[in-house]
Amino acid sequence: MNMEKLISIKNVSFSYGSRPVLENINLDIYRGDYMGIVGPNGSGKSTLLKLILGILKPAKGSIKVFGKSVDIFNRWERVGYVRQKASFFNLGFPATVEEVISANIHSGKGLFNTSVKRCRERVYEVLSHVNMEEYGGRLIGNLSGGQQQRVFIARALVNSPEVLFLDEPTVGIDLDSQREFYCLLEKLNVNMRITIVMVSHDIGVIAQKVNRIVCMGDGKLICHQNSSGEMIPEVLKKTYGDWISPIIHDH
Ligand SMILES: Nc1ncnc2c1ncn2[C@@H]1O[C@H](COP(=O)(O)OP(=O)(O)O)[C@@H](O)[C@H]1O
Ligand SMILES: [Mg+2]
Repeated sequence: MNMEKLISIKNVSFSYGSRPVLENINLDIYRGDYMGIVGPNGSGKSTLLKLILGILKPAKGSIKVFGKSVDIFNRWERVGYVRQKASFFNLGFPATVEEVISANIHSGKGLFNTSVKRCRERVYEVLSHVNMEEYGGRLIGNLSGGQQQRVFIARALVNSPEVLFLDEPTVGIDLDSQREFYCLLEKLNVNMRITIVMVSHDIGVIAQKVNRIVCMGDGKLICHQNSSGEMIPEVLKKTYGDWISPIIHDH
């Protein structure tokens, strides 16, 4: 099969100070994937994303992004990232939705010529993808959790990325908004062909939606292909124990 590797991680180890977090990790992410990353708190999920995004440097091993070593990769507009909410910038900061999104527009060579007008049009294009075009002038801090989440997705989409990383994107948003949010992700993956990599505790959803799942724990990572059969529930049971069964069979 001819599958294009977007991200390739080989024998990667990482520690904060002397405490190892990831040991000898190997993982490939292919174009079109909808990958879920699960695992207990502190198992290194956010750290893994930060390594892929070049925010942290591995102590050992290599990471390639679109075929290039992450240290020299410079086309970051091809990669979207929605950070874990807790670490997001202060929502009391008086920025409008439009400002939050346009601040992420990549000022690469093509955009040097991009007019303020074109940037603004682009902001409203991505706001329409997330059904938020009415909210451009509103302060981000005054929106509901679900609305803020949609703005952060729009922010990540503004450069038309080919791959989108999301770190626990549904924490703190109500169930209806979560449902809408997963519809949106599916649309991005299927219609817009954006590769999606999502860290999440919504195990029921993960089991239903993703095509590959990565389970992390004890510095290790186990990757499983394909959710078509009963395989992913079985895998999740191994990671989380038997209590998970009723949750994943509920859907
Ligand atoms: N900046 C940091 N400095 C020191 N230790 C950290 C830092 N960030 C995370 N850790 C530790 O590394 C481990 C993995 O963290 P993290 O990648 O955030 O896990 P997860 O996202 O799976 O909850 C945890 O034990 C955490 O306390
Ligand atoms: Mg985390």
